[in-house]
Amino acid sequence: MDEAVRMDTVSKVYGKGSGAVAALREVTTGIPRGRFTAVMGPSGSGKSTFLHCAAGLDTPTSGSVRLGGTELSAMSETELTELRRDRVGFVFQAFNLVSSLTVMQNITLPLRLARTRADQAWVDEVVARVGLTGRTGHRPAELSGGQQQRVAIARALVTRPDVVFGDEPTGALDTMTAREVLTLLRETVDATGQTVVMVTHDPVAASYADTVLFLADGRVVDTMDAPSSERVAARMTRLGAWN
Ligand SMILES: Nc1ncnc2c1ncn2[C@@H]1O[C@H](COP(=O)(O)OP(=O)(O)OP(=O)(O)O)[C@@H](O)[C@H]1O
Ligand SMILES: [Mg+2]
Repeated sequence: MDEAVRMDTVSKVYGKGSGAVAALREVTTGIPRGRFTAVMGPSGSGKSTFLHCAAGLDTPTSGSVRLGGTELSAMSETELTELRRDRVGFVFQAFNLVSSLTVMQNITLPLRLARTRADQAWVDEVVARVGLTGRTGHRPAELSGGQQQRVAIARALVTRPDVVFGDEPTGALDTMTAREVLTLLRETVDATGQTVVMVTHDPVAASYADTVLFLADGRVVDTMDAPSSERVAARMTRLGAWN
């Protein structure tokens, strides 16, 4: 299968000596291109570390990460910076918008940083897709939380990245607004073939994905296709996630 991310025996150890923490332990897995993948696991199981290593935000202690066919371990810090800017998109729990910029300026910021001329038709399509047409002149503070996260999603999509990564992108939203954002991510995958990888604690959020990867103690311990929230919750219970 065509893979957007390939990890082979990826380990990540934080710290040294007796204080060392193994956040990932020889993880070998692939993330299929054009699909929606959720990453679940107990707190501290390595989900954020997994995401950061897959996206070139953090460097594994050992092992190989390939993103869109490019081996990340061979890249210089400058090359990694360009890769993060041009080939991955991020959506965080805390939105991370620039408060002094308008919605449109926030969305097109990655293009300006890359000194790429905006393809106005694509920008307009992204704005329409996230439902922000008519709001592009507003500042983030004038928007609801759900609308702010839609701006962040548009900003992540605008460079047509290999992968959009989300670390609990619905974690700060109420249930209804979270559902809208998850539906938007689902529709984006279905309509444009965008690859999305999302860390979540919520079995309902995970049920929007095509596949769920379960992490426990730094290892991928299971995968589930066509997940339902009930099956995901049962699997999490067996992992001791709610203790
Ligand atoms: N910068 C760091 N320095 C030291 N230890 C770290 C660092 N980042 C993460 N860890 C440790 O690595 C392990 C995995 O952390 P990680 O943040 O990936 O877990 P997580 O699954 O995202 O947890 P949560 O659900 O709470 O967000 C934890 O034991 C954590 O304490
Ligand atoms: Mg985390």
